[in-house]
Amino acid sequence: MESFIINGNNKLEGVVEISGSKNSALPILASTILHGREYVIKNVPDIDDVRRMLEILILLGCYATYENGCCYINTKGLDTYDISDELSKKLRSSIIFLGPMLCRNKIAKITYPGGCDIGSRPIDLHLYGLKELGVDVKEEGDFVLCTAYNTHSNDIKLKYPSVGATENLMLFAVGVEGTTRIINPAKEPEIIDLERFLVKCGYKIKGAGTDTITIYGEKNIDKNEVVEYGIISDRIEAGTFLALAASTNSKICIKNINKEFLNNIINIYKDSGCLIDDVEDYIYIINNDRIKSINKVTSCPYPGFPTDMQAQLMASLSIADGISTIEETVFENRYKHVSELNKMGANIVVEDKLAIINGVKKLHGENVNVRDLRGGAALVIAALAAEGKSIVNNIHHVNRGYEKFVYKLQNLGADIVEITDIK
Ligand code: UD1
Repeated sequence: MESFIINGNNKLEGVVEISGSKNSALPILASTILHGREYVIKNVPDIDDVRRMLEILILLGCYATYENGCCYINTKGLDTYDISDELSKKLRSSIIFLGPMLCRNKIAKITYPGGCDIGSRPIDLHLYGLKELGVDVKEEGDFVLCTAYNTHSNDIKLKYPSVGATENLMLFAVGVEGTTRIINPAKEPEIIDLERFLVKCGYKIKGAGTDTITIYGEKNIDKNEVVEYGIISDRIEAGTFLALAASTNSKICIKNINKEFLNNIINIYKDSGCLIDDVEDYIYIINNDRIKSINKVTSCPYPGFPTDMQAQLMASLSIADGISTIEETVFENRYKHVSELNKMGANIVVEDKLAIINGVKKLHGENVNVRDLRGGAALVIAALAAEGKSIVNNIHHVNRGYEKFVYKLQNLGADIVEITDIK
């Protein structure tokens, strides 16, 4: 088992550079199979999820390598339509291969993804949208077999703006002749980034970030030159460092950000009393005091407050002055960090989707277990704010999504080390 050993209650200070966005990198890497050609994808974070995505590309017959933040990919060799079992178990995001695989091969087989740490992860919206474009979907036990021999463009109205479904549909519809519109798509910045990437590849698509995405599917565009693309920076990583500064009474300058995508997080921390200077392409946050409680924060699709920041915000609010509430509306089972925060002295009660957080003056160090990526980040924040020593276990969840996390924290003065095989 891998763990972090953290001695908390230190004020942090310094500059942190935010890495490329995990949730942009994964679908962009999957979309390279749309057409056999060469790609250079820059600003890709060095994290386990990216490594698994590259392994999947290699197992599909493609060339994929990673060096200094760049992925060098050639997908000419793609030699299967089967993304089942072993490959899909490597990463839940493998579902995003479905759209581009189907677009390229007209056939794709994928294992139906099971539940995960934050709740059931159905793909009904992905399949509904594909069927609306004429895809034949056969669900056979654990597998879904899709064929696309009789496709047509269409208007697809999503009943919920699912990020993954929007991505899969964009990545299939670019190859369907005619004009397809996705109505009520996800508006997350990562969708905008995917659209920019597709435009760079030569596809005709517009509207990402708005209520309708329009895709002008075309089969015969020139797709031979090497595509070079730099992905946006990770807004959730930036938010995590904001939460850290707010919780540890620190002074941190957060660089390499796309500020326009962070307002929903920055505003919450401004409301909590932190001093935040965010006029340029960096955020400077100072917090000298205990933060103020927030009456109610509801996680919801972008531009609402991101579910991926819910746990880190909860860590901050657990030591705020007063009572706060958080409502989690995106995932059904995303409060697994609560029992661990409570072990550290927090006073949080969960009632269905609501978490009621009665701020305490101080947390204390504890031996805690990480159950999912963002919950793990929350426990690291709590441990850095707490008095005494914490052992945070099962940190492979954290390493899935944060590049050089320990190094970046140590640079800010945090007393944290990573160890393996703790007895
Ligand atoms: C993506 C992000 C994840 C983030 C989430 C919501 C990546 C790799 N992951 O996940 O970090 O937390 O968006 O911002 O980008 N749903 C259905 N049917 C479907 C699809 C989704 O009911 O067919 C439900 C899910 O169960 C969930 C909600 O919709 O309750 C949101 O899911 P979705 O937006 O699809 O999230 P992901 O793409 O899985």
